[in-house]
Amino acid sequence: MSGSQQETIATYRRFAAFYDGYVGRFHDDFGFYEAFCPPGEPVVEIGCGTGRILDLLLRLGCPTTGLDISPEMLRLARERFPPALRTGRLELSDHNYSNGPLGKKFSRAIASFYTLNYIHEGLPDFLAGVRTDLVPDGAFLADLFVPVALTRPGFDGAWVDKAVQFNGQTVPFRDRRLIDGSFEIREQVYLVDDREIRIETRRRFHTPAEMQSTLEEAGFGEILFAPRYDYPHLGPSSDMPDLDTNYVVVAWNRDPS
Ligand SMILES: C[S@@+](CC[C@H](N)C(=O)[O-])C[C@H]1O[C@@H](n2cnc3c(N)ncnc32)[C@H](O)[C@@H]1O
Repeated sequence: MSGSQQETIATYRRFAAFYDGYVGRFHDDFGFYEAFCPPGEPVVEIGCGTGRILDLLLRLGCPTTGLDISPEMLRLARERFPPALRTGRLELSDHNYSNGPLGKKFSRAIASFYTLNYIHEGLPDFLAGVRTDLVPDGAFLADLFVPVALTRPGFDGAWVDKAVQFNGQTVPFRDRRLIDGSFEIREQVYLVDDREIRIETRRRFHTPAEMQSTLEEAGFGEILFAPRYDYPHLGPSSDMPDLDTNYVVVAWNRDPS
């Protein structure tokens, strides 16, 4: 396993406890995934975390597989879905596409909420593994971020005070973002019972044009982009602004048109 993936595991060892308080109620992306996933068809979510999107996929009646490399995030997902795990509607696994395909077939693969930004090296091989697990005409979707420190003046390096719900309490934390070449470093300091918990997250960002060529290298055919979660406006990377807004990319396992 690469050093950056060990770093991600170390980040989520601490972050897992706060994760649902931090983004558990974020639903802006649900409509996009509903439009993307044919109900009842098998789906894999790469970087499923605590199961925010798995819950939606199960409600769509999709046989669902959730993958993650963080034991703590997988443990929380396991605690959340006992009936679906018992009946086999949901499978959870510690699989990393950096090590090759999983060996199952899916109609759709999703890397939601910036999971792909955690893959710092070897992304074409990672994505080629995902493509191998897709049926012909299947599709992959990734949600990618553009750092706020690039798009909003004043955010680079400035501490911002925030709060999160944790174990029924409101926990204050400080958050700042730094840019280091093609990486964003997010530093957070949570204050729990007078104890400081520091969490650093390092994510690599990509322009839509870079993602286009990475997906082509991985063998994907038709590749379309949408700003934020705007499914009706899927279009070519040439229509997308450079590093202006978070975006979603959908790539089809078919010959280039
Ligand atoms: C921001 S969380 C997203 C969780 C969930 N998809 C959601 O939308 O709430 C990113 C997740 O990706 C996982 N992750 C990072 N690198 C990964 C990899 N190479 N393979 C599988 N999961 C990975 C992390 O452990 C973390 O749980």
